[in-house]
Amino acid sequence: MMRCDVISLFPEMVKAVLGESILKRAQERQFLEVMTHQLRDFTHDKHHMTDDVPYGGGGGMLLKPEPIFAAIEKVNALRGNDIRIIMPTPQGKPFDQRLAEEFSRESRALVFICGHYEGIDARVNEGLFLEEVSVGDFVLTGGELPAIAMIDAAARLLPGVLGSAASIEEESFEDSLLEYPHYTRPFEFKGMQVPEVLVSGNHAEIKAWRRRHAIINTHQKRPDLLSDAVLTFGEREQLNLLNESEIA
Ligand code: ADE
Repeated sequence: MMRCDVISLFPEMVKAVLGESILKRAQERQFLEVMTHQLRDFTHDKHHMTDDVPYGGGGGMLLKPEPIFAAIEKVNALRGNDIRIIMPTPQGKPFDQRLAEEFSRESRALVFICGHYEGIDARVNEGLFLEEVSVGDFVLTGGELPAIAMIDAAARLLPGVLGSAASIEEESFEDSLLEYPHYTRPFEFKGMQVPEVLVSGNHAEIKAWRRRHAIINTHQKRPDLLSDAVLTFGEREQLNLLNESEIA
């Protein structure tokens, strides 16, 4: 079972999204457990302050360290000191399919500290062993959406969570390639036909067609991925031909 804890000022955001559809069912079937923790519950002052002004001046508010440390202490006790702490931040290492797979196989509980406002007191980073992870080169209002995205990407890889286990193996980013184009009925739609090979029943040819079009698709849309793809000598030659025809 994949175990997750989300520390947040807006736990309802997380519960709302993970309480629907596939991830709801994954939790009901106990493939996935997600506990949310309201950061405000770990304040001890009269006004339940979670943020404060930055030393040195400047705009914006920062999350205070004490409630976050207190929340981590509680989660640590809850999870038998067996946790891996993730802090979503645009400054983190990029989240990708490889990290999603790693999270899905993680035996420790994954604890997400969701920041808000301008940021978090730097002593959270200094005093806790945590990993900063970014979901992309853009800035969101808080860490909740990134935490949800990471939990979703990892949980759907758990055996049994998706209906058909087979469909995971041929999907985007597997082997650093995008997927090949898919077609369903009707055979002809608005004058556009399904490639003949796909109705040929010849499985070897279909497999070869799909492989070739996965490479072409990646070449057209995400050529940056191809440097990590494992291609045969012949496939590399085909790619070179594609590149040369663009120069010509
Ligand atoms: N918090 C705000 N923006 C973020 C991003 N792009 N990735 C992860 N956490 C974030």
